[in-house]
Amino acid sequence: MMKREEKRRILIGLIKKMKADDNLPLKKSANNLVFGEGDVDAKVLFIGEGPGYWEDQKGLPFVGNAGRLLNELLETIGLSRKEVFITNVVHHRPPNNRDPEQFEIKAYQPYLDKIIEVINPKIIVTLGRFSMAKFLEGVTITQVHGKIKKAFFNGREIIVIPMYHPAAGLRNSEIKKKLFEDFKVIALVLKDVLNKNSSNGKQNILQERLI
Ligand code: URA
Repeated sequence: MMKREEKRRILIGLIKKMKADDNLPLKKSANNLVFGEGDVDAKVLFIGEGPGYWEDQKGLPFVGNAGRLLNELLETIGLSRKEVFITNVVHHRPPNNRDPEQFEIKAYQPYLDKIIEVINPKIIVTLGRFSMAKFLEGVTITQVHGKIKKAFFNGREIIVIPMYHPAAGLRNSEIKKKLFEDFKVIALVLKDVLNKNSSNGKQNILQERLI
């Protein structure tokens, strides 16, 4: 088990490396690196798509409108941003908030992988289809949102809970409703991970969501 200080040291080194990496394809057009933020010992790691306007201005993830909804979603399950870690598949803003291209996602991948390795979370929550695709193949977000999936990362089994992107929730009230329902699953899984023995009622819900 890596100590908190050791984790911080490695991640600070990684930030320096990213800032110096001129091969990162979205770097030139961006104002700031958006590395991610939160508890380096977080049990839950959220992975979004990429920085938007405000994230690029501030150098922080999810600080615009989608971020406000994410904060609200976290609050309803009793989690604060300080208790989780939040990052993205690309760490510079794609021009005009366009979708990241495959080669761009690939260029940032070694950095994202290192972040995951260092944080070593119990649960990864993917926000939107780009981060979902990193762990789950051949599925659509409509099929699997809010389900508890298992994926392999670095030779270790990890729980992945795919979610709609909060920005999609802002555009569509049905999706917003689903986001609030699906976020409850995070709280249940977290409780289960922390306690190991959950009550039967909760177990049923967990099983329903397990595919
Ligand atoms: N949308 C994302 O996917 N990531 C952010 O950091 C902000 C908005």
